[in-house]
Amino acid sequence: MCKIVLVLALGLAAGGRAAAQHGPWGLGRTATAADIDKDAGLVGPTGEGLPVGHGTTSQGRLVYAQRCAQCHGPSGEGNAVYPAVVGGRGTLGSPHPLLTVGSYWPFATTVWDYVNRAMPYLNPGTLQPDEVYAVTAYLLAMNKIIPEDMELNERNLAGVKMPNRNGFIPDPRPDVK
Ligand code: HEC
Repeated sequence: MCKIVLVLALGLAAGGRAAAQHGPWGLGRTATAADIDKDAGLVGPTGEGLPVGHGTTSQGRLVYAQRCAQCHGPSGEGNAVYPAVVGGRGTLGSPHPLLTVGSYWPFATTVWDYVNRAMPYLNPGTLQPDEVYAVTAYLLAMNKIIPEDMELNERNLAGVKMPNRNGFIPDPRPDVK
């Protein structure tokens, strides 16, 4: 979706002539099958679809400092505007639950997927797979879920046991279109 908006914006910026050939308003391009496939590149709980790659917590410390800390804080504590990504363990049942990677997320694979597709917030999709493995490792180490200086890769990521793994109740209702 973001990509399609970006294409629209670029079409506008480039001026109307070339873009005028597309559709009644002269904007954008025809959506491809990949645009329409909502599951393209999605990595779910099992880790199926993870690209080959690897990254250590210490490599992730660097990625975090350069690409994440300005919003999420030097130690992942967040601030008045941006959410914390560290801490909150044991607060979910309290009057002030703090939802973070450490307290809330049930799977390391979906943390990987979210960071890969949505972060950094203003430049999503710009991290290489190895950088995503590394920064995911660093987030998990900051939350004391994996040891310092562990490497994560496409083979071991799904095996990481998240603290809130069993905190979600499956919705038994069938999906409807
Ligand atoms: C420009 C500010 C900004 C930067 C830079 C940024 N983020 Fe975020 N991040 C956000 C915002 C805003 C949200 C909440 C998004 C939402 O709720 O839709 C968020 C949400 C998150 C979450 C989910 C929050 C949670 O704990 O449930 C994670 C994980 C995360 N970011 C990781 C990262 C990582 C890793 C990086 C660096 C590669 C990064 N972010 C860079 C602004 C930022």
